[in-house]
Amino acid sequence: MSAATPAEMQPDPSLMAREAMALVADLATISDEPGRLTRLYLSPAHRRAADRVRERMEEAGFATSIDPVGTVVGRYEGSRPGMPALLLGSHIDTVRDAGRFDGTLGVAVALAVVADLARRNLRLPFAIEVLAFGDEEGVRFPSTLAGSRALAGTFAFSTLAECDADGIALVDALRDFGCDPSQIPAAARGRQDVLGYLELHIEQGRVLEHEDQAIGIVSGISGAMRLGCRVEGVSGHAGTSTMQDRYDALCGAAEMVLAIEEIARSRGHVVATVGRLAAAPGVVNVVPGGVEFTLDLRTIDDVERCQTVDEILRRCEGIARGRGLGFEHETFYDQPTTFCDAALKTILAGTLARFGLAPLELQSGAGHDGLAIASLCPIAMLFVRCKDGVSHHPDEDVSGEDIIVACAVLAHFIEALEPESIKYRCSAHHDGNASASRA
Ligand code: GLV
Ligand code: MN
Ligand code: MN
Repeated sequence: MSAATPAEMQPDPSLMAREAMALVADLATISDEPGRLTRLYLSPAHRRAADRVRERMEEAGFATSIDPVGTVVGRYEGSRPGMPALLLGSHIDTVRDAGRFDGTLGVAVALAVVADLARRNLRLPFAIEVLAFGDEEGVRFPSTLAGSRALAGTFAFSTLAECDADGIALVDALRDFGCDPSQIPAAARGRQDVLGYLELHIEQGRVLEHEDQAIGIVSGISGAMRLGCRVEGVSGHAGTSTMQDRYDALCGAAEMVLAIEEIARSRGHVVATVGRLAAAPGVVNVVPGGVEFTLDLRTIDDVERCQTVDEILRRCEGIARGRGLGFEHETFYDQPTTFCDAALKTILAGTLARFGLAPLELQSGAGHDGLAIASLCPIAMLFVRCKDGVSHHPDEDVSGEDIIVACAVLAHFIEALEPESIKYRCSAHHDGNASASRA
């Protein structure tokens, strides 16, 4: 019997999964900090990881580039060069002391699935671009989603002047990374150039575990708001300032943090986090004269998000007044809830059914690049079960069997996709995804 020609070869999800896991393991060794995984946007480790992903894309035969905000792009042409592209991907930046799967799994699975198409020399009636974004976590700069915003044509140029904790401006970090910030407008895609965006990501929650299913379909991504808050007091001698005669900014901030927790708990679906808090001057024998803290607040209901933030700010102002402290705040990220495209969800449900999986829908509490890309084109997401729902932690884990299922589902979705089924008419770039309408 003669061997199958490349075009006769069948998709091989086990091989794809092995390749994806190898890339995840490889990227887990690329860190800015010894002994733990930290790969912040535009850091030296991010550069090395981007080069590694690009190398892997080139081995697979994609045309590659790194765009002006550091996104790695690997293009696999369709049956004719220059056809509109289905965008696949996720992010390769991480939080500090991260797990290895958040973002990276989506990049690695997309790359492996499209590499399998290339191996079989199978050309589809659309191009595919695999994207590895760099600023999904928003940990280093106040900017967040810089990569997907640039792609969607909504990059906020004012963020170029914003600095990280070491005083390095985004514009300089981009240049150090090897990017040319003057070219950012050229990273924007036209609506006619893209079909849609599909991201595969670990769930970061426990619904799939509870439902005993490897894969689920995301219904939407919760909106989020991030604020920087500052409490102004008066520093003083820890030994000589009486307890009655203090304007301790840290005690005020502590009361505010507990008020934030209480308010979020009192509202059903709101989650609020004070993830960073720094007291100045921050020494053992000085009453803290100033505190800065961040607030991250999320919920699927945009009205509730705004109302909750207003209630929190009113309470913080009251606490500050009662203690004779100053209170200031600034919103540096405000993203409405984004819903995934109905047509894409239906196609995904059909794909899951082929594998005997229920069309389980779940809401994403975490943010994703789709939030920004939804202003460009229809978006969809697949979630993969992760162990105990743990994420943003080194114990993040996904089973090899589930990665095989993820590869099989993604490969089948892509090969069966008819571009007409997700054709959209979209007048221009808008914020939010309400502007896209079915043709
Ligand atoms: C990113 O993971 C976020 O949701 O903060
Ligand atoms: Mn992520
Ligand atoms: Mn994350």
